Amino acid sequence: MQVTMTTRENLMAILMANQGHWVSGEQVSNRLNISRAAVWKHMQRLQDEGYVIVATPKKGYKLQHVPDRLQGPEINAHLQTQTLGRPQLVCLAQTDSTNLRAKALAAQGAAEGTVVVADSQSHGRGRRGRIWLSPPGTGIYTSMILRPAITPAEAPRITLLTAVAAARALQHTSGIRARIKWPNDILIDAKKIAGILTEISTEMDAIDYIVVGLGLNVNTAAAQFDPEIRRLATSVRIETGHTCRRAELLAAYLNEFEVLYDCFQTKGFAPIMDQWRAMSDIIGRQVTVDVLGTRYRGTAVAVDDDGVLILEDEAGQTRRIFSGDVTRLRPKKPLTTAVKACSRSRPCRDKVTLAGGPEEPTASR
Ligand code: BTN
Repeated sequence: MQVTMTTRENLMAILMANQGHWVSGEQVSNRLNISRAAVWKHMQRLQDEGYVIVATPKKGYKLQHVPDRLQGPEINAHLQTQTLGRPQLVCLAQTDSTNLRAKALAAQGAAEGTVVVADSQSHGRGRRGRIWLSPPGTGIYTSMILRPAITPAEAPRITLLTAVAAARALQHTSGIRARIKWPNDILIDAKKIAGILTEISTEMDAIDYIVVGLGLNVNTAAAQFDPEIRRLATSVRIETGHTCRRAELLAAYLNEFEVLYDCFQTKGFAPIMDQWRAMSDIIGRQVTVDVLGTRYRGTAVAVDDDGVLILEDEAGQTRRIFSGDVTRLRPKKPLTTAVKACSRSRPCRDKVTLAGGPEEPTASR
């Protein structure tokens, strides 16, 4: 797909590439092929939106501050994708839930790659009916529409891929080394920084669409978290000590996602799974897994290539778990169970109870 930039996006690209330095009005007008008066008008519009641009007759323009806005021009300035965000990049100041918006668009036939992002959500949704608190000006709340040619059984792979994309984006933009807790929590030192909500619509045995929602705590200060989740949640700002531009982080996430998604479609899932395992937080650990009201306990010995968690109980019996809430246990003594291949796994059937240490807190919101 040919990606064309608007005059405004080109102008922003010039200003951002020269942030803190002067660019003459003549240079800008030549490069954009517009009059100096038109350049001036664009600059004024940017200033109205919160950009701080100094203008002097002899030197030209100097960009001094870019506001932290989740709007098309700011996102596009960093977006290197061919598909994601290209059919439509829907930027909303407020919505109920970006997953709900994306599902409504998908049901109307919106193309793969459509992205919805909101500055705040009134009904942000987490997994298992939980609420995802989504105040304005601090987080990234985004959902994308995918229409992959995979079976519904393979759809959990998209969640794992999303976790890898988000963790890579955090590392590349902020230097944060996040870990992934199966299946979809992004953690830093056991505190949750991001969560993923994947929703799928099928027709017969084929996928009609998948909506992948990501909630990422970016510029939230510790005091802004509700007291009961403060010890369980973190943000980029808390981890790095400074705020980060959300548009840049969102674009980085979409850029990473597209590379991984292309790799998935051309080379298969194994390379993604390798990355996921390298970032995983639970392999080899003792855990409990809550599956629809039943709690299983054992060692997380593997996540297989379908994204299925393989849990081994004390008797050495393995279970395949497709979806659930994992809690890491603090082992009373060092783990002796080796991480085994998944070949001995068989489907999860009955409830087992094993001995273990006290639970570590999870960071579900
Ligand atoms: C979880 O960890 O429980 C998943 C949280 C997912 C939250 C995101 S925010 C953007 C998208 N819209 C929603 O309503 N939920 C997801």
